[in-house]
Amino acid sequence: MNKQTICDVDVNGKRVLVRVDFNVPMSGGMVTDDTRIRAALPTIQYLLDHNAKVILMSHLGRPKGVDDKLRLAPIAARLSALLGQPVKTANDCVGDAVVRTVSGLKPQEVLLLENLRFHKEEEKNDPAFAQQLAQLGDVYVNDAFGTAHRAHASTEGVTHYLPAVSGLLMEKELNFLGKAISHPEHPFIAILGGAKVSDKIGVIKHFMAQADHVLIGGGMANTFAKAYGYEVGDSLVENDKLDVAKELIVQSNGKLVFPTDAVVADKFDNDAQSQVVEIFQVQPGWRILDIGPKSVELFKMYLNDAKTIAWNGPLGVFEFPRFAQGTIAIARALADSHATTIIGGGESVAAVEQAGVAERMTHISTGGGASLEFLEGKTLPGVAALLDKSA
Ligand code: 3PG
Repeated sequence: MNKQTICDVDVNGKRVLVRVDFNVPMSGGMVTDDTRIRAALPTIQYLLDHNAKVILMSHLGRPKGVDDKLRLAPIAARLSALLGQPVKTANDCVGDAVVRTVSGLKPQEVLLLENLRFHKEEEKNDPAFAQQLAQLGDVYVNDAFGTAHRAHASTEGVTHYLPAVSGLLMEKELNFLGKAISHPEHPFIAILGGAKVSDKIGVIKHFMAQADHVLIGGGMANTFAKAYGYEVGDSLVENDKLDVAKELIVQSNGKLVFPTDAVVADKFDNDAQSQVVEIFQVQPGWRILDIGPKSVELFKMYLNDAKTIAWNGPLGVFEFPRFAQGTIAIARALADSHATTIIGGGESVAAVEQAGVAERMTHISTGGGASLEFLEGKTLPGVAALLDKSA
């Protein structure tokens, strides 16, 4: 996994084309969470400090053609405020006008190109489009860990035409997540939640091989409970995954740890009636919306001695405050732990933020789908395409 980084190449006076992941939450034309923009700052600042001309490119959303609501101007404004210097924008990401803007760029200036996905060629990894992007730089940097699982023109195609190295965020993500999957310090405990087993089969299998225990919560624990033969009432269950769940239970050899009690509700609503029951006592008409207090204590027992903890997916319906208690208690247990704590992106990030303990985690990934695929042990095309460090 040793990839060359921006520190291994000469960027002085060069046009450095940087793929960032500025696919950030927006509302009413405003950036509502700038975590991914802030995460890219070390790379951008390094390049500016080393006298580079910085040309940034990103996608935003999943537009079909040009969509004015998905232009990157608000992101450029936020980046400019964070950097404390102007950020130029372009009306497109390729074409003559962009070429002219880039050729007018001076060292230590920053340009953010327009949304890459306004061109369908981006997602198709079209070679001619990749070449047009490559024309804009002398060196290519991929700092978009969140998009590294996509083989698109700006993440993979472009590397065929330019020397391609990783940015500092990409390097940090690969180091932390890579350590969790290949050289974890033991005891290594993985916590997996989220709604569906089907999304997590790969990562459960991978962690069953690497971790000492895998704690299972969230909606997907219901499928395992049903596979055990328990009544789960109206809980979310993937009936077509019961066999897979049974197989995993058998293969796990005791490594998988399941909730022993649950908070059940009479409807899917924050204001539902609720009660705590043993996991085998869920009644018809009720649904599991959180892990119960005994499960929290059980999970904490495993977390107490851990040296490495990796977490992906909430343990209950944490967007309803009344059913967020299990997830929040576990987030706090991670914050109090002396282990290396790695939060694998997506909703688990929102959970540690909601618990007010984000600052106390060792590493919070900026990738959702990308971190999940990486934690499954898959090769990410955007990473594979970068130059290896020489031995
Ligand atoms: C993400 O938010 O997970 C990345 O930016 C990738 O976006 P995509 O799923 O639309 O490719």
